[in-house]
Amino acid sequence: MESPTAAVASVAAHAIAEVLGVEPATVDPVIRESRFADLQSNAALSLGPAHGLRPRDLAQQVVERIPVDGPIARAEVTGPGYVNLELSTEWIAERLSSLAVPERHDATGRRIVIDYSSPNVAKEMHVGHLRTTVVGDALARMLEWSGHTVIRQNHIGDWGTPFGMLIEHSIDLGLGSAELDRMAHDPNAFYRAARAKFDASPAFAERARRRVVLLQAGDAATLERWAELVDASKAYFRRVYASLDVSLTDEHLAGESSYNDELAGICAELEALGLARVSDGALCAFPEGFTGRDGAPAPLIIRKRDGGYGYATTDLATIRYRVTALRADQAVYVIGEPQATHLEMVWAVAREAGWLPPTTATVHVKIGNVVGADNKLLRTRSGDGATLAGLIDEAYRRAAAATDREHAIEDDDERGRAARAVAIGAIKYADLSVPHDTGYMFDLDRMLAPVGNTGPYLQYAVTRVRSVFSHAGSKGHDPNAAIALDPPEARELALLLLHFDATARAAAESFEPHRLCALLHQVAKRFAAFYDAVPILRADPTDRDARLRLCRQTEAVLVRGLDLLGISAPLRM
Ligand code: ARG
Repeated sequence: MESPTAAVASVAAHAIAEVLGVEPATVDPVIRESRFADLQSNAALSLGPAHGLRPRDLAQQVVERIPVDGPIARAEVTGPGYVNLELSTEWIAERLSSLAVPERHDATGRRIVIDYSSPNVAKEMHVGHLRTTVVGDALARMLEWSGHTVIRQNHIGDWGTPFGMLIEHSIDLGLGSAELDRMAHDPNAFYRAARAKFDASPAFAERARRRVVLLQAGDAATLERWAELVDASKAYFRRVYASLDVSLTDEHLAGESSYNDELAGICAELEALGLARVSDGALCAFPEGFTGRDGAPAPLIIRKRDGGYGYATTDLATIRYRVTALRADQAVYVIGEPQATHLEMVWAVAREAGWLPPTTATVHVKIGNVVGADNKLLRTRSGDGATLAGLIDEAYRRAAAATDREHAIEDDDERGRAARAVAIGAIKYADLSVPHDTGYMFDLDRMLAPVGNTGPYLQYAVTRVRSVFSHAGSKGHDPNAAIALDPPEARELALLLLHFDATARAAAESFEPHRLCALLHQVAKRFAAFYDAVPILRADPTDRDARLRLCRQTEAVLVRGLDLLGISAPLRM
């Protein structure tokens, strides 16, 4: 649905075009938010001089041509030539009456492949992985809702030299050992045990090295052990995703190992194209435009001196797969910001090789660091009490303590579910409400605060609207009543609701969930102001029904908005 801004822009563009005698489509009316009106048009400032007119004179002529029976009720020249615009309250009310918040827009958009979460096998997911998981999942939902075809790819790290020691350790433990089962809960314990042996025993380290060679050679018995480790990790990932209501499933897994068969060919092709050459024993590509500190071309190593392939080679195979097999119009990577150069070099080589056509756009959604209270990078490690699962549990405990205190819910199960929704909502919203590339401090108390720009504050707004309806109960009201927007608080709330669709789509297009969060937070705040300003159920029937309709639309926007962020709204909390 067209946003109020777009509707106003179209009317203003026509008026300006009429005055200047040009085509409306060529006019940018420069519509901005205003402190003194609903919106303002700043176009006269630049268009006036360009057409030999004083900005104020152009603005005045435009104002005279703006029809006041459409979206705009009043237009007025101020300052050096701004046009202040006041929206028509009837127009807002009429728009709001027909506002439909779709479950999903028609799929007419692009094919977007989105790489997110991508944790490493046999390792605990850390808070950095939590953030790429949460942001990536919200983006996948938002883009899908906007009408794009979204293909999720979980590029798990399931290959590489650490598997030598991990496999040897699992051989020592014997088939079907309990340690492997435990990996589904605490993957790091297994990793640490293997690592300790590797560091302490030269004989074990030697076995581990030989095992890597066997693994790369495709030795069947070794692959079987490897698969066992990967399966145990998958069980762990599944548990984490389920505990966070993340939409990733096994069908989205496309781990590094799935590209093994492509790697030799990638190297051979790049060599044949003259894009790779041996330098210091390693096969390297030198994409144009990348230099090291000394100004010399920077290498992207695609085959190491020992003949092994690395992260970059796999990513080259990956982008080729996403373009050819998955037919991506856009390849999106939700990955830590330190990997920016790696990605750019990979894409540059892929473009030079012709694997990444100009018609496929690439995007790095850079994920910033999460720091602890000491301002240092937050590393969750098993053993020091700060595992990812530990943090989620702690959030749950605190949320449960709050719902217990409130005691708004009698039923234990429902209270437990509400606490869970609040805990997950709080953690996710903290990740989503700040720009994804800025760092922030992990602080459970702030995340769980019932006021402020937090998940629980938004969820609370939903329960409040819903409680209005549960109290309205049997009284019976007209669901199609005309929406009246007489208290200013109602008008302001209504206007925000009309911005939802365009803002949510724009947030998806720019890969910025925090813009959607900001709108939803405003909606929750304006709803609170409206709720405090006027009676709803105790108003006379016409006002009551009109206000209940505004409540309905508020509920629809908040619930859909939270859903796009991957956050559920409990009925009560
Ligand atoms: N496994 C990597 C890590 O933990 C992230 C992989 C991101 N995806 C990619 N295609 N490189 O840092």
